[in-house]
Formats: sequence, C-alpha cells, structure tokens
Amino acid sequence: MDLQNKVAVVTGGASGLGRATVDELARRGARIAIFDLNAAAGAEVVAQLGADRAVFHSVDVASATAVEAAIAQVVTKFGAIHVLINCAGIGPAKKILDRDSAPMPLEDFTKIIGINLTGSFNVARCAAAAMAKNELENGERGVIIHTASVAAYEGQVGQCAYSASKGGVVGMTLPMARDRRGWVSRANTAGWRCISSKTATSMARPSASMVPFACSRAE
Ligand SMILES: NC(=O)c1ccc[n+]([C@@H]2O[C@H](COP(=O)([O-])OP(=O)(O)OC[C@H]3O[C@@H](n4cnc5c(N)ncnc54)[C@H](O)[C@@H]3O)[C@@H](O)[C@H]2O)c1
Repeated sequence: MDLQNKVAVVTGGASGLGRATVDELARRGARIAIFDLNAAAGAEVVAQLGADRAVFHSVDVASATAVEAAIAQVVTKFGAIHVLINCAGIGPAKKILDRDSAPMPLEDFTKIIGINLTGSFNVARCAAAAMAKNELENGERGVIIHTASVAAYEGQVGQCAYSASKGGVVGMTLPMARDRRGWVSRANTAGWRCISSKTATSMARPSASMVPFACSRAE
C-alpha cells in the first residue's frame, strides 16, 4: 500500500516498537492516530510530528466503548482509516506458583490476555468496520497488522499468560483475514524476538536470559 496521505492507527504508538512504527509511517507520508495510555509520551510524539499529521488518543485497547469512540473520532478528523498496526502490549512475567507455592492470581493472567489478545481484536473489529467503507485501491481497502512474539511458539519461565496471549494473536490472524476476504484485504501478524523496551524489561530476568538468540527483528 502506498502510505502517502493514508490514515494509520497505531496502538502502543507512544513507546518502543509502536513509536518506531509511527516514525516510519510518518516518514512515508501517512497521517497517524496513536492509541495509548501514556499521555505524556503520546503528546511528545504529536509535538514532534505536528498536529496536522498525528493525533493522540488516551485509549485502553481493552475497552470496547473507548475504542469505538476513538475510532469514530479518527474518522471524523482524518476522513478514513486505511491501516491498523496493533503494538500495545504488556508482559509482566509471573510463574503459575510463587515461591510459597501459592497460585498466580487469576487477574494477572486475564489482564495480559485482555490487553494483548482481546485488545488487539477489539481495535481490529472497529478499524475493520471503518476500512470496509474505503474504496478499493489496488485490490485493497485496508491493512491490519498485529504484533505477536516468539513466545507464541516457545514461551519462557513466567510467560504462561504472555505466551497464551501471543498464541491467540497468531491464531486469530488467519480467520480474521478470511472473515474479511473481499472487503478488507489482509491481516498479518509480525513475530518479534527480543528488543529492548519497557515491556521486554518487565519480563523476569531468567526469562530474558533464556531466550536463545540475539536481539533482532525476526520477520
Ligand atoms: N520488545 C520486545 O522484545 C518484543 C518481543 C516480542 C513482541 N513484542 C511485542 O511488541 C509490542 C510492543 O512492545 P514494546 O517492546 O515496544 O513495549 P513498550 O512497553 O515499549 O510499548 C508498549 C506500549 O503499549 C502501551 N499500552 C500498554 N497497555 C495498554 C493499553 N491497555 N491500552 C493502550 N496502550 C497500552 C504502553 O503505554 C506502551 O506505550 C507488544 O505487543 C509486545 O508484546 C515485543
């Protein structure tokens, strides 16, 4: 897709991988809406790119109503949505049992699933509805990209919730593309290895040191 003057939503765009994605989209001429909880960092990005090119929405990707409202505001401001890149994610590591053999609190598990997996689907469903209104351009109405992880395939110690969430992201990508066949063209999932960021350093030290490869982009 030629990104010149296209409109992209980037979740988690205030930091790390999402922030780098925002910079690249801007370099290619896209207008960008950042959905993130870090308002200070989001405001910094908008100040750097300019308010005509970027907008920040303080949005919890796990909230149905907040995402529905933010997607509607993006369409009002920029006229359409052509690209969604889901980067928002969390990854605090916790073992199924702690040192005293007490079980991991269930809410720690459901929080990670709620943001990484349900949140990715939540933004995708709303963005897809906006993309369905676009005219076809080179056979495409829009593109959705999720961010998975090598942990989808080989989780480390303390990554039950994180691996489950990323496995879910991998799993939903193909049916999402098939669901939208004929009206939105593709959904891709990027799997990543270890990149220094807040999310990466929130993993337990043993888990980070067990990753059997260097920090680099995987695909
Ligand atoms: N860094 C790595 O090595 C690595 C490896 C594999 C996958 N990933 C994935 O890449 C994505 C980005 O990770 P990163 O390393 O850049 O992390 P990061 O912590 O730098 O950025 C994550 C962003 O998501 C935002 N966020 C968190 N919860 C949110 C919510 N509920 N609603 C909206 N925004 C929320 C945070 O405020 C932050 O700006 C994540 O999905 C992560 O799982 C990262």
